[in-house]
Order: sequence, then C-alpha cells, then structure tokens
Amino acid sequence: MDWQKEIKKKYQNLGQDFNTYLAGLYYAKPITYWDYIEVDTLLSLQKPRTDFPDEFIFIGYHQVTELVLRLAIHELQQLVCSEDIEVFEIKILRINRYLDLLISSFTVMNQGMDYEQYNQFRLTLTPASGFQSAQFRFFELYCTDLIQLVPEKFREQFVDNPKLEDMFEYVYWQAAGKDFQTGKKSLTLSLFEEKYLKSLIDLAYRNQFSNLRQKVKFFQKKGKLTESLEELFRTLDRKFNIDWPMVHLQTAHTYLGTGQSEKAATGGSQWEKYLHPKYQRRIFFPELYSQQELAHWGE
Ligand code: HEM
Repeated sequence: MDWQKEIKKKYQNLGQDFNTYLAGLYYAKPITYWDYIEVDTLLSLQKPRTDFPDEFIFIGYHQVTELVLRLAIHELQQLVCSEDIEVFEIKILRINRYLDLLISSFTVMNQGMDYEQYNQFRLTLTPASGFQSAQFRFFELYCTDLIQLVPEKFREQFVDNPKLEDMFEYVYWQAAGKDFQTGKKSLTLSLFEEKYLKSLIDLAYRNQFSNLRQKVKFFQKKGKLTESLEELFRTLDRKFNIDWPMVHLQTAHTYLGTGQSEKAATGGSQWEKYLHPKYQRRIFFPELYSQQELAHWGE
C-alpha cells in the first residue's frame, strides 16, 4: 500500500488541507504509555476516609471489580445486537473469563485485609454498600428478562400486567431494604434508586427483546444452539449467580461473623439470608436446566 498516496486521498476526500495535517504531525508529542492508559488519573482515585492502611485495599479492589464488570458489560452490549453463533461463542467465553477473575481474586478481600482494621474503617461507610453497585444490576439486565429477577412468589401478578416499572418494585434487591408491609425503604436503597432507577428501567425496556435469555430462546427455536454454546451460557449463569455470590458471602462471614455475633451490614440488610444464592434463586436462563437442577439451585 502506498500510504502517502492513501493519506493524501483521505484528507482530500474530507476537504482538508493535507499539508496542515503533516505540519501537525511534525509538532505533535509522541504518545506515551502513561497518557494513553491515564495511569496518573487511575492511581489518584483511591481516597481513604480513615488512616487504616487496609482501607486502601478495600477501595482499590472495589475499583478493580467495577473495571472488570465494565469489560464484561462491553461484551454484553455487543451481544444484544448480534445473532451470530460464533460471536456468541467468543464473547460469552470472554465474559466467563472476566467472572473467573472476579471469583478467584476475591481472596484479596477474604484474606487480604486485617479484621480489626476492616471493622473500624467500615463504620465510616454507613449507609454505603456494594449493594449500590449499579453495574451488577446492569449486567443482569443484559443477561435476562426482568421477571427472572423478581422472586418466584411475586411473579403471578405480572402475568396479565408485565409492566416493567411495576416489576422493579418487587425485584429481588428490594428485599435488602424494603419493608413490604409498609413500603418504607432504607436510606441505602432509596439513595440507590434515586440515582439509578431511571437508567435501570430504560435498560430493561431497551433489552426486553434482545437480552441474552431472548437470544438463547431464539437460537433454540432456530435449532442453532450448539452444545458448547449452551454450556457457555450455563457457566455464565452459575458463575454470576452462584459462584461469585458464594465467595462474597464467605467474605461477609469472615468479617461480619455468624449467628449470635453477626454484625450489622453497612447497607443494613439481613445479609446472611439475603446474600445466599439458594434464597435469591437468580437464574438467567431457566430453559437450560432440568427440573432437578432448578429445584436445587445454589445449594
Ligand atoms: C470485606 C468485603 C465485603 C463485605 C464484608 C461485604 C458485605 C456485604 C453485605 C453484608 C452486603 C448486603 C447488603 C448490605 O446490607 O450492605 C453486600 C452486598 C453487596 N456487595 Fe459486598 N461486601 C464486601 C465486598 C464487596 C466487593 C469487593 C464488592 C464488589 C463490588 C461487593 C459488591 C456487593 C454487591 C453487588 C452487593 C449486592 C448483592 C446482591 O444484591 O445480591 N462487595 N456486601
């Protein structure tokens, strides 16, 4: 390829003066790693609220998680626009790798902080909670229908009225902060909804016919769902809805204790029950499991 000729042509087609761009090249500084990756910005984002050294680990690891989730969502955003089996095989595998990373690295939390330090600096964080991580909820809305995120006991009422706004009032995470008798919500939950509910509703509408569960059904109907792709979907489901919740719950046990000595969580939920996958029963692709598997989900 004659690059000089091609570049000249490019600027001519844009109606631009090629020479000005050449002069710009002459003066431009060379690109560096630190500018491109924004290293200084990235490393300036850890701002502990106490002098306990391990709070830095807590913040840093949450940020790592948010970045990895962002990478996974980047793949999901492309998948909701695709019907190509090969693209699905490649990208679901990528997402599963990201989830592996989150699951295996959770030891950074479970074993990597001093117990006493954690239980002191966390007191300054109330009412904030990882519960307020919107990317976890966005991830779910790319993967499945909103009704799958509503506990089974509440689903009946939506058979004739599948209005998504109404479903959000019963979505599983309400159980962490809503009193269903009075309708009163905890501060952790209301602040979260104030900031993100509108975007969550928008995303649920946008993805209602294109989320991954819809794609699974589409591939099944067309007889195109290969065994290997089916296994990838099942793996994603288990990693996100069982394996990660379990390593996270074990960590809560490590720091907040169990039974009589159980400590209140910063978000205020009945966390021992709330966080367990066998109670939550979040399942993205129910059509891929036997009755037996469904009955014992998360046990
Ligand atoms: C020492 C480490 C951690 C402990 C003790 C802990 C504890 C808890 C507890 C007790 C809850 C229940 C909500 C509440 O009442 O606050 C919760 C929720 C949550 N946490 Fe953590 N957490 C830890 C680290 C993390 C990390 C690193 C992340 C990653 C962003 C995270 C993400 C979440 C999410 C997404 C929820 C909501 C789960 C759901 O709705 O099923 N947590 N956490």
